[in-house]
Amino acid sequence: MLAERIRRVSPSATLEISAKAKEMKARGEDVINLSAGEPDFPPPEEATEEVCRAVRKGYGRYTASQGIEELRSAIAEKLRRENGIECTPEQVIVTPGAKMAIYAAVMVLVDPGDEVLIPEPWWVSYPAMVELAEGRAVYVPTKEEEGFRLTPEAVGERITSKTKVLILNTPCNPTGAVMREQELRGIAELCQDHGIYVISDEIYEYMVYDGARHVSIGSFDGMEELCITVNGFSKSYCMTGWRIGYAAGKEEIIKAMTRLQAHSVSNVTTFVQHAGIKALGADMRLMLDEFDRRRRYMVEELRKMPGVRCIMPEGAFYVFPNFSAYGGDSKKLAMYLLEEAKVATVPGAAFGREGHLRLSYAVCKGAIAEGLSRIRSALEGLEHESDSPRCI
Ligand SMILES: Cc1ncc(COP(=O)(O)O)c(C=O)c1O
Repeated sequence: MLAERIRRVSPSATLEISAKAKEMKARGEDVINLSAGEPDFPPPEEATEEVCRAVRKGYGRYTASQGIEELRSAIAEKLRRENGIECTPEQVIVTPGAKMAIYAAVMVLVDPGDEVLIPEPWWVSYPAMVELAEGRAVYVPTKEEEGFRLTPEAVGERITSKTKVLILNTPCNPTGAVMREQELRGIAELCQDHGIYVISDEIYEYMVYDGARHVSIGSFDGMEELCITVNGFSKSYCMTGWRIGYAAGKEEIIKAMTRLQAHSVSNVTTFVQHAGIKALGADMRLMLDEFDRRRRYMVEELRKMPGVRCIMPEGAFYVFPNFSAYGGDSKKLAMYLLEEAKVATVPGAAFGREGHLRLSYAVCKGAIAEGLSRIRSALEGLEHESDSPRCI
């Protein structure tokens, strides 16, 4: 019954595990969810007030598919000020989440058989999007001992005459890796030499720690025509369910994405677009400071566990510890921890990297402490290779 294109795509593994955890919770089980992909903070007050005001003012009719001018101008200004990207409002599209922006960019750029470079570990939806566009995902490995940062050398090795697009994600979900400017410059050079488009997913741009700096590849000379910069309000402003994100790039590409959006979702919910203007630039420092504290705490605790290796991530709100001393089957381990310790995590296999689990610290410190303590006890019931180094 179902079309081939959707039969090839499996459900999001991150959604699967959180659904199972929710199910257990609904049965009254005391589950600690460390699989969350959303901040546990409220959206900025100014956005909440504006959304109510906008509803009352009757901002509930269709808008231009590309998004309201006022918001696109505010986004263009933000990109200029914070990211060093010069673009006009005409080069910006407002989408229902960054996810739709990435999907639309893939759909308008990738022809059947085109190769799309995806750094591994990857965010779960990238391969599925490429699959839906009938492109071919080509994975570019990163090394744990290099902090999972993508190198120009690794990218260069996988470029062929069919390479059309590179999807970049910095700061990275699931590893928390933050790309350095020099590495990005090397990658930008390769893309320019080979005419490769970059979809730069910068949704975690504000979540950087230990002095790491987020750099937008789209700000480099020569990338104006090649880079589609994607961002959104879900993580920065805790507006996950509001469904609002955006992309900026060459006008021809943005117009094509707008055509796709016009014939599929029409426009982002009108009153949410109004609230987006108010959210941009809201002060989220309290949340970021708290994430930083939780990050350090989580890594310290994980490093105390026998056989567990954990690099200190510099960005996003996840840690990606290595549990391969416990057998290497991440799905089995995640399921064991869910059933035995009642702690939900995401298996590394979902991101293409076995032996790891992704743990989120976008949950309160008490839950993190209890969750880690339960994981520690549950691991005691398992055999592990004792010579595994605890950290690198
Ligand atoms: C790397 C990455 N990109 C994009 C998204 C999608 O965000 P949005 O809610 O804006 O669609 C997520 C959400 O988890 C993500 O982790």
